[in-house]
Amino acid sequence: MLDKFIPLASPDITDEDIACVVKVLKSGMLVQGENVLALEKSFTDYHKNEHAIAVSNGTATMHLALIALGIGLGDEVIVPAFSYVATANVVELVGATCVFVDVDLDTFTIDVTKIEAAVTSKTKVIIPVHEFGLAADMEAIMKIAEKHNIIVLEDSACALGAKQNGKSTGTFGMFGSFSLHPRKSITSGEGGMILTNSTEMDKKLRQLRNHGVEMIDGNMEFVEAGFNYRMTDFQGALVNNQMQRLDVTLAKKQILAAVYFNELKNNALKLPTVPADRNHTWQTFHILLAEEKNQKEVLAFLKKNNIGGNYGAQCIPAMKYYKTKYNLDAKQKFPNAYMSYTHGIALPLYEKLTEENIKQIAAIANLL
Ligand SMILES: Cc1ncc(COP(=O)(O)O)c(C=O)c1O
Repeated sequence: MLDKFIPLASPDITDEDIACVVKVLKSGMLVQGENVLALEKSFTDYHKNEHAIAVSNGTATMHLALIALGIGLGDEVIVPAFSYVATANVVELVGATCVFVDVDLDTFTIDVTKIEAAVTSKTKVIIPVHEFGLAADMEAIMKIAEKHNIIVLEDSACALGAKQNGKSTGTFGMFGSFSLHPRKSITSGEGGMILTNSTEMDKKLRQLRNHGVEMIDGNMEFVEAGFNYRMTDFQGALVNNQMQRLDVTLAKKQILAAVYFNELKNNALKLPTVPADRNHTWQTFHILLAEEKNQKEVLAFLKKNNIGGNYGAQCIPAMKYYKTKYNLDAKQKFPNAYMSYTHGIALPLYEKLTEENIKQIAAIANLL
C-alpha cells in the first residue's frame, strides 16, 4: 500500500500561472479580451494553422462546428463507439443521427477498416477521436473522407501535442477540437479551442460563440441566433501561460510512461500500443485487463492501496440514452468498444508525479 493517496489526475498550476490570473482579475477586464486573443495566437502558432477560436469547453467546440456546418435532422455522423459521451452528445444536440463504428484494441481509436461499411448517402461528418492522447489513423481517415466527400471534425479533446508523421492532430480535418478541462495536459478549468483553416468557418464560429453578433458599419448587429460559449479572459491567461511550457510537460509525461512500460510486468494487463508513425501524449495511461479480471474489483484493489484509478471511457451505444434510442446490442456489434469500457483501467500519469511514484503504482498493479 502507498503511504499517501495518488489521485488519478491533478493539474500542474504554478505560482506563475496564478500570477497571470491575478493580474487579469485586478485589471477588471474579466470576459473575453486580449488574453483569449493571445491564447488563440499561441494555438495557431503551435499548430501552424490559420484560425483558432477559444470557447467555454471542449463539447461546445464540436457543437458549434456541427451547427456552423448546418448538420441536423436526416444527417448521419460517424462516431467511434468508444469515447467520452460528449463526442456523440453533440450529434444528438443538433438532431442528427450517430452511426457508431468499433475501435481497435491496440490504440482505442476508430477501426479504420470498419469506417467505409458505415458510410451511406446521408453521411455528412466523421468525428475521429484521438483517444487518451494518441492520434487516430488520420491519414487513412482523410483518404476515406475525401473519397466519400465527408467532412472531418477531429475530436482532439485529449490530444494536444499529438501527431501522425509530424502533422498535429486537429489540423487534418476541417475542424480540430480541443478540451482544456483539468484532466488535459493544460487547463483553464473549463475551456475549449477549435482549429480551422476555413476563413468562412472561423467567422461563423466566432459569431456563434457570441450570440450571433457581427459588427456592421461599426454597429453591433445580430445576424443569427448564437450562444454564449465565450471563454473568460482570466482563463485565457491561465492556460496561455501553461501553453508556453507544453512541450516540457509532454516530455515529462513521456518519461513517466516509459517507467510504466519498464515496470509493469503482469500478463493480465495489456499495455497501450503506440504505432511507429505517431507519438502518444499520455492524457491517460490506459491498460486493458484480461477477460477474466473484474474491473470493479481491480479499481477497489487500487483504491485500497491508495491509488486513484477509473475506467477510461464509455462504450457509448451501451449508455442508457443511446441504448434506448438506437437499441443496438453494443457487446455484440462493438466488441472492442465494449471490452475497452468493461476492462479498461486508467492509471495516474501527470507532470507532478515522480518516477518513484510510477514504480510504486506499477508494483501494486503487478499484484493484480
Ligand atoms: C474524447 C473527448 N471528447 C470531448 C470531451 C469534452 O470536453 P469538455 O469536458 O471540455 O467539454 C472530452 C472530455 O473529457 C473527451 O474526453
